[in-house]
Amino acid sequence: MISRNSLALYGGKPVRDRPLPVMHPGATFFDDEEINSVLEVLKAQSPYRFYGPKFLNITGKFEDEFRSYMGTRYALAVTSGTAALHTALIGLGVGPGDEVIIPTYGWVACPSAVVASGATPVLANIDHSLTLDPYDVERKITNRTKAIMAVHIRGVPCDLDRLGSIASHYQIHLLEDVAQCGGGSYHGKKLGSIGEIGSYSFQLNKLISAGEGGAIATNNREIYERALMFHDTGTPYRGLEEKELRFSISPFPGVNYRANEISSAILCVQLTKMDRIIKKIRENKSKIKKGISDISGLEFRKLPDPEGEVGVGLVFFTQTKEKALQFKEALLAENIRTPSGSYPGVVYEPGRQDGHVFMHWAHLLPGVERVSQQYSQSLDLLSRAVHIDISPLDGEQEINDIVEGIRKVSSVVL
Ligand SMILES: Cc1ncc(COP(=O)(O)O)c(C=O)c1O
Repeated sequence: MISRNSLALYGGKPVRDRPLPVMHPGATFFDDEEINSVLEVLKAQSPYRFYGPKFLNITGKFEDEFRSYMGTRYALAVTSGTAALHTALIGLGVGPGDEVIIPTYGWVACPSAVVASGATPVLANIDHSLTLDPYDVERKITNRTKAIMAVHIRGVPCDLDRLGSIASHYQIHLLEDVAQCGGGSYHGKKLGSIGEIGSYSFQLNKLISAGEGGAIATNNREIYERALMFHDTGTPYRGLEEKELRFSISPFPGVNYRANEISSAILCVQLTKMDRIIKKIRENKSKIKKGISDISGLEFRKLPDPEGEVGVGLVFFTQTKEKALQFKEALLAENIRTPSGSYPGVVYEPGRQDGHVFMHWAHLLPGVERVSQQYSQSLDLLSRAVHIDISPLDGEQEINDIVEGIRKVSSVVL
């Protein structure tokens, strides 16, 4: 048994002498391929997606490749994951007077996109998977509910079987937010291709990245047309001609969320690296989990489809929220942390600003703090959930250190 005094928190020697590697999966795999791909666009003097002096149509190429990766009929590149969510909602026909069910744990972009579409976000609790609790989703359905936003969070897919049955039973739409689970799957199908529309982000923390960027994928022609028109300022004729198609919907106003050719040049290469990056992260996570699986008092997060997770984070619940905070502080002191110190963390810490948890969305859900008791199931889980990043850059040494650090801290804190 390790004594309290041997913990680095109390002056003992830390497990590591420096922090773990960064967790920016896609960008840390940039090499000459991305550089050359960008150079081609610059040399062609054609950074705009629809035309240019020596137009290469790299965005069209990325959309084709992304569509084929996803196994969907249509894909559309946009400027960010938030833009993708907004475009997806408009594609589904969501608007003023509608309600969209979202989880209590996601990212502030989720309620923001709903509000931007003119609809009202309605919260549903999360369960031990930290994704939507299907029982609570069903309780939240009213005659105004238009869609469920299933957010696959921290590398773990939602229970899409049950959410899908609820959506079809009540004849509402199912939108998948894949921002934090890119490349993941559910029962062998790519996340984002199972609901009527899927939304991706390519921001720096994501599995593949162009710094910023996003995309949507769907099999539904009308949804695609609405998304296409909306993202391109409501232009009622552009984007289909190369596919020899015509818009079948009436024109309506839009915004400008058009992707640019430089980002697309990076993403074409990144997409070819997605599965390699995920493989490495998954291997790392499984080794770490194996090394700590016998620790009593640590409860792992429920995985609706263990085969489909991407493994970017390891999450476990301690018995009390106080223990979770102590656990986190002790891991930080052992240097089992990212260079920025943002991970490990406890998912919900009252008083710490963090856009992942609904308690920080009051500007989008007025009065939510007053009714927070309705979400005590979420708050209990989130305040006992310790999470650490699993980077594809972690090697054997890092993996051993993470295991040693968790074991050391467990023997004192739990
Ligand atoms: C779950 C989730 N949805 C949507 C987004 C929005 O993506 P972006 O930052 O590209 O707008 C993010 C970004 O972090 C996210 O984590």
